[in-house]
Parts: sequence; structure tokens; C-alpha cells
Amino acid sequence: MVAPRAVAAAILLLAAGRDARAQPTLSVDLKSPDSIKSAAKIVATKLVSYYHGTEYGKTVGILPGPPSDGLGPYYWWEAGAMWGTLIDYWHYTGDDRYNAITSEALIFQSANSYQHRNWTASLGNDDQAFWGMSAMLAAEVNFPNPPADQPQWLALAQAVFNTQAPRWKTDYCNGGLRWQIPPTNGGYNYKNSIANVCFLNLGARLARYTGNETYSFWAEKTWDWMEGVGYIDEYFNVYDGGNVEKNCSDINFVQFSSNAAVLLHGAAIMYNHTKGSDKWGIRLAGLLGRTLDHFFPNGTMVERACELEKMQCNEDQHSFKGYMLRALATVATVANFTRPVILETLRFNTKAAVQSCLSDGTCGFRWNIGKYDGDTDNGPAGQAMSALAALSTLLIDQQPVKGPLTDSTGGTSVGDPNAGTGPAALEPPRPATPSDRGGASVITALLLASFLCSLVWICSGWTESPGAPATSQPPWI
Ligand SMILES: *[C@@H]1O[C@H](CO)[C@@H](O)[C@H](O)[C@H]1NC(C)=O
Ligand SMILES: *[C@@H]1O[C@H](CO)[C@@H](O)[C@H](O)[C@H]1NC(C)=O
Ligand SMILES: *[C@@H]1O[C@H](CO)[C@@H](O)[C@H](O)[C@H]1NC(C)=O
Ligand SMILES: *[C@@H]1O[C@H](CO)[C@@H](O)[C@H](O)[C@H]1NC(C)=O
Ligand SMILES: *[C@@H]1O[C@H](CO)[C@@H](O)[C@H](O)[C@H]1NC(C)=O
Ligand SMILES: *[C@@H]1O[C@H](CO)[C@@H](O)[C@H](O)[C@H]1NC(C)=O
Repeated sequence: MVAPRAVAAAILLLAAGRDARAQPTLSVDLKSPDSIKSAAKIVATKLVSYYHGTEYGKTVGILPGPPSDGLGPYYWWEAGAMWGTLIDYWHYTGDDRYNAITSEALIFQSANSYQHRNWTASLGNDDQAFWGMSAMLAAEVNFPNPPADQPQWLALAQAVFNTQAPRWKTDYCNGGLRWQIPPTNGGYNYKNSIANVCFLNLGARLARYTGNETYSFWAEKTWDWMEGVGYIDEYFNVYDGGNVEKNCSDINFVQFSSNAAVLLHGAAIMYNHTKGSDKWGIRLAGLLGRTLDHFFPNGTMVERACELEKMQCNEDQHSFKGYMLRALATVATVANFTRPVILETLRFNTKAAVQSCLSDGTCGFRWNIGKYDGDTDNGPAGQAMSALAALSTLLIDQQPVKGPLTDSTGGTSVGDPNAGTGPAALEPPRPATPSDRGGASVITALLLASFLCSLVWICSGWTESPGAPATSQPPWI
């Protein structure tokens, strides 16, 4: 019974392979906003075709999965990230055709502060936070507000934050969030960077949006803890995590771009929120320099840990490149000194990303080989999300784009500081110190800009020469 099916599948595959080879690469003029928008529309259409939540009997808001059900390779969190990608798509291109399904998804899955019991088996703090960060983005870009009797974007982000803050425990490792939420999940004893950088990211953005310093207190605390425990090292490498049994000293030194991207975004928001403080400016510049050096070794992004020597990236990692470019675009809008280096990165990488796509919007994974690599395994939604992010974010180079809003600069989302759990478990904010607040200066920004230049390939004729060898540490230490 197995053989005929396998033969049929082989023939189908062969046909698909031939079609793919026959199909030209996605064509786009990267100098023209209209051309970028048309290409983005093709990729967005393809991306949304992987979503079946609007079909009869299917669950609203999710991509097919979790992997074990055989329907598709996507864990629940990745759909949360996809809706964020589509919010950015709307924000940068103005195409609102997916706004309705995006709203519906973000609301339908929001039960219990994005912890619906359907997803308990894979519910990490990071999974919950990826949905929370998409809700936060909706608030920051004035994505159309839901009707008043529905959950509101800002309140949803606050709910996620408020459920996570009480999970910060000092019994092991002197603090930090664990990876998984239910104690019965594998990974509960792992305190990892992704759980903590997502918490920092949400804290920073909530502080900036609402002006409530309880959130920034937690963002500060999380950075300090990650540095203290060695997850962020003196070169601004961001390592993956450690286990409570070893008091987090058994650091897993693998570096994933998702950790760096979410942290970079959070650090830039803190830099902006603290009015250009030296403290966050130095963190931001250091992290940005190391990120570009490590993940863009020849100018094009690679998910080094699983893409470089051998292709072994999983379904999650196939979506990571998009989060990096989306984070970088936001960093450029809130920390002006990073703008030149980030624009160069976006231009170079969007070109590379587009070459990985076919004319029907199907996109492969590798951006550094100049063509479609046929790698739609462990996807293809993640690959499409990444290419869509590349196209959408490049528009910041060509048209005026508003940075993330706050409730005093036009943001209209309605919040609820008590959403999620009771406020009892939260510590009071620490008063702002002069060093946090006073450092805003053009001089600082200029110094940081030249500092950044000194350590990245970008300011040294990088299109011709590949820059520093991949393994080099930044030279300034
Ligand atoms: C949870 O799963 C059930 C059964 O598949 C489905 O009917 C329901 O819509 C799901 N709810 C959410 C929030 O995913
Ligand atoms: C556990 O790790 C924390 C953070 O690195 C450290 O401050 C603390 O001293 C360690 N405790 C023990 C018992 O090793
Ligand atoms: C960078 O480019 C050089 C020269 O083309 C190549 O040998 C090297 O493998 C590339 N490194 C990465 C990390 O892609
Ligand atoms: C922002 O950076 C750009 C490019 O470096 C520069 O031209 C512009 O003057 C800067 N704007 C501000 C407000 O600093
Ligand atoms: C913060 O970001 C806004 C754009 O959203 C920008 O206008 C402002 O200049 C930034 N502030 C600092 C200190 O960089
Ligand atoms: C600030 O945020 C914290 C944490 O969510 C909350 O407990 C507190 O009530 C908020 N304060 C105000 C003034 O909204």
C-alpha cells in the first residue's frame, strides 16, 4: 500500500520541482516604492494562503500544527508572529486587505491573556509574548481598534506583561523567567534568553507607550539580570540560556538571531524612552554592532547556528530572519544614530531576500546564494514572513514612516493596567536616576554613530570586501 503512494508522491514532487525551476525569480525594482509594494503584495498573498483559519471547521488565528498533528509544521506562537508581520505589512504599505483576519485572529486567540488551554503543551513565556508583542505593535501603529466590547490591543499587551512579571523568581539564578509556563512541560527548568528578552521588550514598549515606569523598571532589571548571569557577555553576544539545576551556570552558548533581534528592539525603545541615555545608547550600539557582525557576516543575514555549516534549521528558525529585519527597521526609527547603518543593511538584505523568492511569492530560506533554494521545508510560512518583512521594511528608506506611537503622540489604543492578574505581585518602580534621564545629547549620538561605524563592515566599503572574518570579536574590547 505504501509504494504506489510513494511513487505518486515522487512524480508530484518531480513535477513541482520542474515547475519551480521553470518559474522566474520574483521581480522587483528596489528603487521604486510601487514596485516594492507590488512584490510585497504577491508574497503576502502567498503567506496568507498558508493560513486556513477562515475555512469551515478550522481554528481561527493559527497556522496548521502543532507539528505532532500531522497537519503542518507550525507551533502556535508562529501565527502570533505572522499577524505581527502582517500588521507591519499594512503599516508600511498601506494595504489593508488582511486587517480583518488579523484582528479576528489576535482577538480569538487572546483568551486568558494569550494562554488558551489548547496550547498548554507548548506554552512558553516566549510563545505567549510573541502574541503579546503583536498586540503591542497594533497599539503602536494605530492598527484599527476592535469594537469597545472586545479586548483592546494595549490592554492585551499589558495582560501578557502582568501575567509574566509574577513569574520572575529569585530562588534559582538570582532571578529571571523560566522558558515554559506549565511546570509539567519539558523546558520548565530552563531559564532562557528568549523568554526574558520578550519580557524586556514588552516592558520597554509599555513604558514608552504609557509612561508608567513600573514597566521600564522591569526592562532594566531584566537586562541587568541577563548580564549578571552571563547570557549577555561583554562583547554583546546573546547566548541561549541555562538550567536551574545548575543555577544557570551551564550556559548554552548557541546564538539565535531571535534573541538578538527582540533584545535589540527592546534596547532601542529604552534608549528612546530614556531620552537618549548614555547607558542604553551604549547597550544599543554594542548590541547592534555585534548583531550585524555575527548574523550578517558577509552583509547578508544567516541564521548561523543552524544554517552555516549544515542546513538544520527547524520550523521556528525558518522564520527568524523576518523578526530581525522588522526589529532593525523599528530601531532605525527610534534611535536616529542607527539609521544609516540599518538602511544599508535593509537595502542589501531585501535584495538578497527577493532573490530567494519565485515570481508566485514562494520563498526559500537562504538569502546568501542569490537564488531560490527550494527549501520550503519546516515552512514555508516562515520563509514568506521573512521575505515579506524584508520588502515591507525597506519602505522606511523611501517614504516617511512614523515611529511607534505612544498615548501622548497619537496612539489611541485603550489600556488596562490591571489586565491579566492582580497587581499585587509587582514591585514598585524605582525612581529614575539622573544618569538614566539626563544623557540626551547630539554629541552622544554622534559618538555612538562613529563608534558603530568603527566596528561594522558597513562603513568600510563592505559591498566590495567581505569585512571582518566571521569568527572575529568586535575590536573595541
Ligand atoms: C481550541 O480547540 C478547539 C478544538 O479544536 C477549537 O474548537 C477551538 O476553537 C480552539 N480554541 C482556540 C482559542 O484555539
Ligand atoms: C546563582 O547564580 C546567581 C546569578 O549568577 C548568583 O548571583 C548566585 O550567587 C548563585 N548562587 C549560587 C548558590 O551559586
Ligand atoms: C563570506 O564570503 C566568503 C567569500 O565569498 C566565503 O568564503 C565565506 O564562506 C562567506 N561566509 C559566510 C559566513 O557566508
Ligand atoms: C537622523 O539621521 C540622519 C542620517 O544620519 C540625519 O541626516 C538627520 O539629520 C538625523 N536627524 C536627527 C533629528 O538627528
Ligand atoms: C524617539 O523616537 C521618536 C520617533 O518615534 C523620535 O522622533 C525621537 O527623536 C526619538 N527620541 C530620541 C531621544 O531618540
Ligand atoms: C503601572 O503599571 C503597573 C504594572 O502593570 C500597575 O500595577 C500600575 O497600576 C500602573 N500604574 C498606573 C498609574 O497606571
